[in-house]
Amino acid sequence: MSASTWAIQPQDRERVIKAAIEAKGFAYSPYSKFRVGAAFITTTGEIIKGCNVENASYGGTICAERTAIVKAVSEGTRSFTALAVTSDVPSTISPCGICRQVIREFCAQAMPIYLVPADYDKRISDGAADGGVLETSIAELLPYGFGPEDLERPRQQ
Ligand code: THU
Repeated sequence: MSASTWAIQPQDRERVIKAAIEAKGFAYSPYSKFRVGAAFITTTGEIIKGCNVENASYGGTICAERTAIVKAVSEGTRSFTALAVTSDVPSTISPCGICRQVIREFCAQAMPIYLVPADYDKRISDGAADGGVLETSIAELLPYGFGPEDLERPRQQ
């Protein structure tokens, strides 16, 4: 099943995209000056937002996508129906390699991932129905990935 056949209501798509844009407003990115916002919608319709949180020790930086996932999982939520990611770049950006692996852990292969350009609202008001959003999935972003099921496989001694 590809992301485009996944059942998500247009209003939920809109909600999760708007939430990612809002989340970007809380980005703590004094070093890169690159703000990122992410949001998940859960199977119960809840929105969970995350932003990137940088650190003076650069390796301590946490991306927006992982902030959102860790917030959700640590509050008992592990079932998601869509993810949106946005930045200040007027084109789409896509999750880094580490985030792809973490998304792989908790999200279905075909779950829609909306990559949202910074000028989404302008594109909508200019009449672009999709707002310039690139819809993808973790199956596309992390092909042949390693996941929890692999640890269940029988092993040779
Ligand atoms: N960043 C994210 O939050 N998500 C991505 O998908 C790409 C990169 C953050 C990490 C860092 O704070 C800044 O963007 C520059 O790499």
